[in-house]
Amino acid sequence: MKLVIGNDHAAIEMKNEIKEYLEGKGIEVIDVGTNSPESFDYPISGYRVGKMVASSEVDGGIAICGTGVGISLACNKVEGIRACCCSEPYSAEMSKRHNNSNVICFGARVIGIETAKQIVDAWTGATFEGGRHQRRVDEIMEIEATQKLKVADEA
Ligand code: RB5
Repeated sequence: MKLVIGNDHAAIEMKNEIKEYLEGKGIEVIDVGTNSPESFDYPISGYRVGKMVASSEVDGGIAICGTGVGISLACNKVEGIRACCCSEPYSAEMSKRHNNSNVICFGARVIGIETAKQIVDAWTGATFEGGRHQRRVDEIMEIEATQKLKVADEA
């Protein structure tokens, strides 16, 4: 498995700990975030993570800022990205199983490192279930591609 990881200035320590944690499990991690304590705009890292995931260069992305919110918003502006901001492992796992999330986000100022590790474990260990969930994910992607949702407009 190969992942991309990105962060802003609020999440340098957590990014490095998560990167090391994943590498210890044999997962390759490409770091596109900042390592400087200077203020760093989270959309830059969110965009980089999103682009790498959307181009299928990697199997998924992890994006961390202070809350996980701003960077998830930025990731989600890249076409093809389903980034989910989670503060506990259950939602992270379900975001993969039901929503086929391809980026997981969390906040370094919100959760501790042990919860962050549980989140990445839950997310990397989960598989998209397809079936009825595929239809719903397709509907999300239809909204993205067309700014319309046929089933809703016709109802
Ligand atoms: C940076 O101060 C902070 O706004 C950022 O890390 C993040 O929390 C934004 O959503």
